[in-house]
Amino acid sequence: CGIVGVVGDPDALNILVSGLKKLEYRGYDSAGVYVTGENQSDYLVKAQGKIANLEKKITDDVHGTTGIGHTRWATHGEPSVDNAHPHFSNDHRFYLVHNGVIDNFNELKQRYLADIDFKSETDTEVVVQLVSKFANEGLDTKEAFKKSLSLLNNSSYAFLLMDQKDPNTIYVAKNKSPMLIGLGDGFNVICSDALAMLQRTNRFMEIHDGEMATISAKDVKIEDKDGNQITREPFEVDVDAADINKGAYPYYMLKEIDEQPAVIHRIQSAYLNKNEVQLNSNLMDKLTNASRIYIVGAGTSYHAGLVGKHLFEKIAQIPTEVVVSSEFAYDDPLIEQDAFFIFLSQSGETADSRQVLVRVNDEWKKPSLTITNVANSTLAREAEFSVTLEAGPEIAVASTKAYTAQIALEAIIATAIGRTKNFEMAQNLDIDLELSKVANAMQAVVDEKGRIEQVAVDNLSDTRNAFYIGRGLDYFVALEASLKLKEISYIQAEGFASGELKHGTIALIEKGTPVLGIITQPQTADNTRSNLQETKARGANVITIVSESLAQTEDTLIIPDVNPDFAPLVSVVVGQLMAYYATLQRGYNVDQPRNLAKSVTVE
Ligand code: G6P
Repeated sequence: CGIVGVVGDPDALNILVSGLKKLEYRGYDSAGVYVTGENQSDYLVKAQGKIANLEKKITDDVHGTTGIGHTRWATHGEPSVDNAHPHFSNDHRFYLVHNGVIDNFNELKQRYLADIDFKSETDTEVVVQLVSKFANEGLDTKEAFKKSLSLLNNSSYAFLLMDQKDPNTIYVAKNKSPMLIGLGDGFNVICSDALAMLQRTNRFMEIHDGEMATISAKDVKIEDKDGNQITREPFEVDVDAADINKGAYPYYMLKEIDEQPAVIHRIQSAYLNKNEVQLNSNLMDKLTNASRIYIVGAGTSYHAGLVGKHLFEKIAQIPTEVVVSSEFAYDDPLIEQDAFFIFLSQSGETADSRQVLVRVNDEWKKPSLTITNVANSTLAREAEFSVTLEAGPEIAVASTKAYTAQIALEAIIATAIGRTKNFEMAQNLDIDLELSKVANAMQAVVDEKGRIEQVAVDNLSDTRNAFYIGRGLDYFVALEASLKLKEISYIQAEGFASGELKHGTIALIEKGTPVLGIITQPQTADNTRSNLQETKARGANVITIVSESLAQTEDTLIIPDVNPDFAPLVSVVVGQLMAYYATLQRGYNVDQPRNLAKSVTVE
């Protein structure tokens, strides 16, 4: 979900709506705004679906200087107008937007609000009704809010609360869900992601877990749980507001796919000086001394971790495990004494991954590094070290350039460790040159879009399912390419280890089932070809994506050769474009697939 708020600007409504549009990639099940002004006239507008639906409902006579807005990714309660935020108390005095999940909302409802007629099925409404109850019992708004917060156990929340009687104030509280205060000249804004407000300010202030803040046009007061005032320095976010527009591209996803060669070059200039790796020396010491690396991630970032395992084991020779964060968060793993944790997260906000980091810090007390695209994100702040991907904002829900950037950085870090340890392979690896070759090969692939589009249209236009297969690194790319395909085109797509197919999955192959084989690894090329033949013998429609030096005349798509250890960076681009064109052909919104959100800040 996305949250925005503004205090003290006559253009409040426009600021909220344009901020919500920037956050739409965080959820688009429903949206709403509440604004109020000096004469205490106030307006609440909510709509199901995209922000565009909300805009259609907003009439010209809505004005105000202070307001809050929300775009929702549904957790409790279906997407509907009633379940859309802001939620309000029954006397229409208090209005609240919320990201996160209130774990004990049922209990609170029964205990404190048994006589209240609820308007929605959400966990959020319970909180605004609580505030109202405590206010009616005589507490002032802030105290009523604080008392409500104290009842939420350790639930996750980022809240903005407004009191219709006080149009000059927004109350903010945060626990485990992201929230930033943006500082303006004569006004202030609040948002769950700096991107939402970059057009208004680039100066932001953090709020930490358990804190609350009272914001007016000229003042920001932050206090901790015990009511102690906190002073905190603001920081500047240096994202170019122009980077968050899609320019001439029909969709962000295509823009972001096309940017990948440039992102690789940016990473080279940020972390390499000629062939020398430039990384924090403390970080390098800790990594070099690690006896085991754990890579933690979700979704596409998890897939980038799988490739990372190969790189850390081969180039740095450190045993590496890759874990799905939501699984690892509540497991009882045996953590090695000299473990080092690497968190991969495009957004730096994924709640599942953060839950693991909390254990790394509090329970296991191990060193950690977050590799993220968002410099001041929660995971970046809370890990011992952080490095940024230099990929520029990624807006399309389906991640593309963050995946390749993550792998490029893993390659650089693995090389640095291997060199410090005097491993011959790392010493001899000209990582700068290899990444330049990768960038050129990626460019060749994006330049060949037309051909990939044709293959997608010919083979994926009306299929119900599809399989990507490969071995080793090609298998890892098969997982990522199939995730891209399923998440945006809704084709039931799976990635399989090609040798494993015959042990079960081959039963699913029917006449015409598309099977996309990825072949970039010389040592397993023949095996994968045999496995493709096995599917073909059962009627599969075989499509191959093959590195030039391994190609045969019947292959479908040939991609330039690079060092096979870095081939995922190139072959995945084919998978990304395949998903993009299949989705266009099938008539769906590429950037905003159903049911998904870009950054999931609930567990
Ligand atoms: C969501 C997104 C995925 C993403 C995953 C992890 O599920 O839809 O595209 O890969 O979160 O996100 P992160 O920001 O941690 O990389």
